[in-house]
Amino acid sequence: MFRNAIVRKPAFSLKEGLTTSDLGKPDYYLASEQHKLYTETLIRLGLKVKVLPENELFPDSVFIEDIALCTQSCAVITRPGATTRRGETDGIREVLEEFYTIIEEIIYPGTLEAGDVMMAGDKFFIGISDRTNEAGAEQLTAILARYGMKGIKVPLKKLLHLKSGISCLENNTILVCGELTNRSEFAGYNIIVVDEDECYAANSLWINGTVIIPHGFPETRKKIEKAGYETIIIDVSEFRKVDGGISCLSLRF
Ligand code: GLY
Repeated sequence: MFRNAIVRKPAFSLKEGLTTSDLGKPDYYLASEQHKLYTETLIRLGLKVKVLPENELFPDSVFIEDIALCTQSCAVITRPGATTRRGETDGIREVLEEFYTIIEEIIYPGTLEAGDVMMAGDKFFIGISDRTNEAGAEQLTAILARYGMKGIKVPLKKLLHLKSGISCLENNTILVCGELTNRSEFAGYNIIVVDEDECYAANSLWINGTVIIPHGFPETRKKIEKAGYETIIIDVSEFRKVDGGISCLSLRF
């Protein structure tokens, strides 16, 4: 169960965010509306949400998931692999201290963005990507081990982040797409495979029994509902334009 979430309002500079998509520039005003609805959805699902102010210096700072990992025992401040995002962690320690007594940190030469980390109970799957390196994954695995949790590396070839292609829906169930389909790392889980043309929806978000799914992916919605979940659809089109998914917009714990 999650009780809390932290979100950061989108910056006007969002349109300068890193992207690999060809979907055009995000509209700041629509992004702000979508972010408000996202926040309201988390509240509706029972979370207490702390809203941080926008940070104009960092166009990608709305994707707050990448800068910290919130576990049941400790929070871990990350060290983003994207150099333009590294300063996003400034000030996050003070915010996390409101909720955690133990705060760990990924340090040089490690890089890690928590969009590359999927929590499944006390296991944490860690994508090795352009943003998260072996050293970062090793450091996180060592930190987790100190608190009885386990890190499992998942080398990636194409995905930006691990969670660009996978979500844990609890109940031993995961949603996967593309290069993460048929991977030995996930043997033993009930797997819901997302069609290639709906891969963006592989980043959906389980919150206390309900799955938040991005708007526009009807087949994935059907599959998740068939597996017995309540669903809520929200539109995050403006964040998709800068490679952001549903989970990227919050820290949950
Ligand atoms: N625009 C989000 C990222 O590239 O990290």
